[in-house]
Amino acid sequence: MRRRQFLLLLCGGPATGKTSTARALLRILPPDYKAAHIQTDAIRMMVYNRRHSRRESRMVYEMLRNCSKIALTNGYSVIADATFTKRKDRQVFAKLAHETGSSFLSARLHCSLRVAILRNSHRSGSKFVPRERLISIHNNYEDDDYSLVLDTSDMKPEAIASLLLRELGLEAPVSPRGTVTG
Ligand SMILES: Nc1ncnc2c1ncn2[C@@H]1O[C@H](COP(=O)(O)OP(=O)(O)O)[C@@H](O)[C@H]1O
Ligand SMILES: [Mg+2]
Repeated sequence: MRRRQFLLLLCGGPATGKTSTARALLRILPPDYKAAHIQTDAIRMMVYNRRHSRRESRMVYEMLRNCSKIALTNGYSVIADATFTKRKDRQVFAKLAHETGSSFLSARLHCSLRVAILRNSHRSGSKFVPRERLISIHNNYEDDDYSLVLDTSDMKPEAIASLLLRELGLEAPVSPRGTVTG
């Protein structure tokens, strides 16, 4: 049976665990499952390598949407990994899922500011997010009532990935004898 493709948003401030969770999820997707992990961080690196303006940030989200659309229309599921601070950006992606006949799931990853600052302090080079920027994103996240909120201070990326796999309906069914049927 062909499984319906999904569009999963992994939202949250810097160092909340989006990329680690995306990678953990990719590792447990069913064999041969076609999925693309698309990150604004990677797009940003391709476009420029300095602090970005609001207009450039818009462009990066537009590129994320366009890349996601291409992947979805080619039969790939998409893990869109971005802060998605603005509710409106998440809504644009919900619409894209609808237009491409994909199931949609938005997950907000969250941890305390203290934990995010500590994790960020272990980063170097372009991966390090300036402290003021990290705090600003942390404090300005626009909540909604349709996202799954997951605290990454309590759960490892592997545990979050298993939970997301279940939410996406992709967990392998277990036969009556208890063996996984694939
Ligand atoms: N659920 C988690 N529990 C503990 N540490 C985590 C978790 N998720 C990520 N980390 C650690 O936090 C740091 C930032 O994670 P990352 O996935 O790059 O965050 P983001 O993509 O949201 O910026 C990494 O060092 C990673 O190992
Ligand atoms: Mg990341």
